[in-house]
Amino acid sequence: MSALANNDAKETTTSASLAKPPLLSVEDAKALDVGRMADLFKEHINPGQFHFMKLLGFHKVKIERAEGMYYTDQNGRKILDFFGGFGSLAFGHNHPRILEVRRKFQEEKRHEIGIAFMSQYATALAKNLAACSPGDLDMVFFGSSGSEAMEAAVKLAERAAGPKKPKIVYAENSFHGKTKGVLAVTDGKLYRGEFLLTGNTLRVPFGDIDAVENAFRSDPQIGAIVLETVQGGGGIIEADPSYWPKLRRLCDHYGVLWVADEVQCGYGRTGRFYAFEHYGVVPDITALAKSLGAGKAAIGAMIARRDVYMKAYGTPKTAMIHAMATFGGIGEACVTAIEGLNVLYDERLMENAADTGAYLLKRLDELKEKYPRIIKEVRGRGCMVGLEFHDFSQTLPAVVRPMVAMLDEKLKGSLSGFVGALLLRDHNVLVAFTEYNRNVIRLEPPLIVQREHVDAFITALDTLLSRGVVAIVKDFVKSQMG
Ligand SMILES: Cc1ncc(COP(=O)(O)O)c(C=O)c1O
Repeated sequence: MSALANNDAKETTTSASLAKPPLLSVEDAKALDVGRMADLFKEHINPGQFHFMKLLGFHKVKIERAEGMYYTDQNGRKILDFFGGFGSLAFGHNHPRILEVRRKFQEEKRHEIGIAFMSQYATALAKNLAACSPGDLDMVFFGSSGSEAMEAAVKLAERAAGPKKPKIVYAENSFHGKTKGVLAVTDGKLYRGEFLLTGNTLRVPFGDIDAVENAFRSDPQIGAIVLETVQGGGGIIEADPSYWPKLRRLCDHYGVLWVADEVQCGYGRTGRFYAFEHYGVVPDITALAKSLGAGKAAIGAMIARRDVYMKAYGTPKTAMIHAMATFGGIGEACVTAIEGLNVLYDERLMENAADTGAYLLKRLDELKEKYPRIIKEVRGRGCMVGLEFHDFSQTLPAVVRPMVAMLDEKLKGSLSGFVGALLLRDHNVLVAFTEYNRNVIRLEPPLIVQREHVDAFITALDTLLSRGVVAIVKDFVKSQMG
């Protein structure tokens, strides 16, 4: 082949590979119907997950709009959101002040990337977070998720504790994220899989202060303890209030750093900015994400005591060890979060979370009295509530049990899946499930929730539960057969 022909061939190959593939446009994306979305989800995202979406009835829903407490689907049906993105939607969907600040930011063609020039938005947000945080929790690292914030927290703790204290204590039923580092302190068998995790960890029961003291006393290599203040993934579990001051004292005594994961329970959800503020104590390092992005931006933050931060990264030589990644402190996410913090206080949403949350708990307690054989426990604080059903795996009538087992091993006997699916199908209400405890429904409505929303939710749940467990299960099974 001549040199010329060779070049021609190269050019043809190059231009062919640069031809625009059959890309969908934004308008095409908006116009996808549920069937096509399902196909694409199975082909390109997660076919196994689609199985669960089908069980819960999500495969028939296309969301066209979301505003305040509601989603609106393709048929104009309004769905009340008591799931709240596992605590990601403090302001509900598309809060007008959040939309406005983002619109303005775009119109003014503001800059985004904050890793070359200093960012006025990242610095202002860091200042705001320090102002919202008690004690000397003053130093802030920005990432794009809760996992990234927790990675930063665990790395900071390890460096500040020093090489002689490399061990980290974590709790049973904890959830701190699925990235490789924090997986070592996340207690979910499912998530941990067969991954090779760092071996410097020690697990203790959550809320057991004696177990913590025993661990600290017997192992001087322990340098940090990582705990959610309220366990979310574990099914909304709180420790006894006396636990936290004792923990603080033990940490001080044994020179152990306390990392408080507030990714789900923080940001006003329990009625205080941080859940640990209910107990009058301050951790050494904490983390926020979810609602920090006001339902519009992917942003997480680690907030640390200044002396701890300086110990780890306080010199020019150490400063870049864990400096921000590409999207850390990105402009529009920061202005979104700045406005969010202002809205949180201006609209007194923490007070509302405490008041309306207490009302929700009261109304759920009434339902528990009414259905003592169905509801086992109602628990939580503010807008972070767990509703636990009795385990029916052994008590369902023999005729129903095999039908249920056939549908899905995981939902067997777990009423929460059936209740959740029927709440969505028949009552237009969305609730959340709990991976570690399939009998628990998690209720984490936006902090803008009002009593009328609680009443609507309670009426829906009451109507459903009044049908009785067997009818609920049979209906669910029938819906899956059809
Ligand atoms: C307590 C807690 N920590 C960390 C994470 C991880 O956050 P993300 O999913 O944003 O990575 C979560 C997420 O559910 C969480 O609930």
